[in-house]
Formats: sequence, structure tokens, C-alpha cells
Amino acid sequence: MRPEDHLFMARTHLREISPAAPPPDCLLRTYRPGDEIPWLALVRAVYGGKWGEDTFERCVRADEAFRPERLFLAESAGRLVGTAGAFQKLAYGDQTGYVHMLAVEAESQGKGIGSALLARCLEYFRDMGWRNAVLDTDRHRLPAIRLYLRSGFLPLPETLDELEEWRRILPALGYAGMAERLRQGVVAEGSRGANDGKSAV
Ligand SMILES: CC(C)(COP(=O)(O)OP(=O)(O)OC[C@H]1O[C@@H](n2cnc3c(N)ncnc32)[C@H](O)[C@@H]1OP(=O)(O)O)[C@@H](O)C(=O)NCCC(=O)NCCS
Repeated sequence: MRPEDHLFMARTHLREISPAAPPPDCLLRTYRPGDEIPWLALVRAVYGGKWGEDTFERCVRADEAFRPERLFLAESAGRLVGTAGAFQKLAYGDQTGYVHMLAVEAESQGKGIGSALLARCLEYFRDMGWRNAVLDTDRHRLPAIRLYLRSGFLPLPETLDELEEWRRILPALGYAGMAERLRQGVVAEGSRGANDGKSAV
């Protein structure tokens, strides 16, 4: 059963990806041994809650989709300030990318690092020859949802409750047209809201 707060989004194609362009003082790179402790510190700071010492092992290394080149890290002044995984989930098949645990530390948000990490994931999926991308998020993560919409992801409500929630969230983010056209289990491709011009879809 899905957590109550859950929402699901899909990007139906991997065209029109805005190039990953982090701010000049920020470097995007992939995982290397030794990143585990700063990665955990970042995740604990960004997501709050209890993340045990085994979180990297459990949520990253033990994931069958994990490869070192699929875990992207944003570094600024020698510190890890952001992360995202370009993973897959078997349930969605081998042509679909899965964006895993996107996070940017609070002090570094609003500078384009999250957008760059997400774009790097999408570029990875595209370069692998995959067809589309999906992600899970939570209802209260409005900055993340806004970023996903801007980056071409569309809501995919799987229950009536999720449909209602999207109809509440989307107009508040400037996507009223998309909210009107949304149906349960249907990606609202082609829908246009006030902000949809910024979207890649
Ligand atoms: C979601 C999250 C990763 C976004 O990271 P971020 O680095 O702030 O993302 P960006 O900077 O690329 O975009 C955020 C905003 O800053 C704006 N921005 C980007 N570069 C900018 C710049 N140079 N100057 C001013 N604003 C800028 C973007 O346009 C965007 O504005 P919008 O939200 O009004 O569309 C971050 O908020 C986060 O870690 N949140 C908590 C964890 C979370 O919810 N993760 C997602 C789990 S599903």
C-alpha cells in the first residue's frame, strides 16, 4: 500500500531536456567511494526524520538499479550540496528511468542545482536509449512538484484521492488547465496551464 502522502509523476518522453547547467561554483559529478557519509548527512539535513547509518547501503547500494555512474552529486566548495539517482524500478520495465531521492541542502536551494541534477538524470535516461521517466513524490513537496512540472513531468493520479489532490495542487502552481483535464490513471499530456509554457511537454 502506498503512503497517504504519495503522488506519482511521469515524463512520457525524453525529448526537449533543458541541458543540466548548475551554477558556476557548483560541480556535478558521479558517486565515488567515500561519498557515503556526506551523502547521509545531506539526506538527513534535507529530508529530516530518522535515517539510520545503513541508509546509503539500504536505499542506494542495495538497490539493483544502482551503478556508481547513476548517482549524481552536486559539490560546491568541496562539500556535497545535492544528490539525485538516475535509477530504474523493475515494476516499470527496462525502458523507463526512475528519479531517485532528489535533494538539495536548504542553503543551496533556488540556484538551479535541483534543476541541473534532474536534467542530468533525464540526460542519462535518454543516453541509455530509454523511453520515459517516472518518479514518486509527496503532496507536501510543492517546490519539488513545481520543479518536476517545469521539467516536463506530468501528474499520474492512481486513485480518486490522488486525483482530488492534484486538482487542488495544480491551480495553486499555475497549472489550472492541466488540473481541469486530469483524469484518474491518465497522463494529462497536451494540457496547458499558466505555467505550461515553461514545461517541456
Ligand atoms: C526540490 C529541490 C530538490 C529543488 O532544488 P533547488 O536546487 O532549489 O531547485 P532549483 O534551484 O533548480 O529550482 C528551484 C527554484 O529556484 C529557481 N531558480 C533556479 N535558479 C535560480 C537562480 N539562479 N536564481 C534565482 N532563482 C533560481 C527556479 O526557477 C525554481 O523556481 P520555482 O520553484 O519558482 O520554479 C529542493 O527544494 C529540495 O531538496 N527539497 C527538499 C527535498 C525534496 O522535496 N526532494 C524531492 C523529493 S521527491
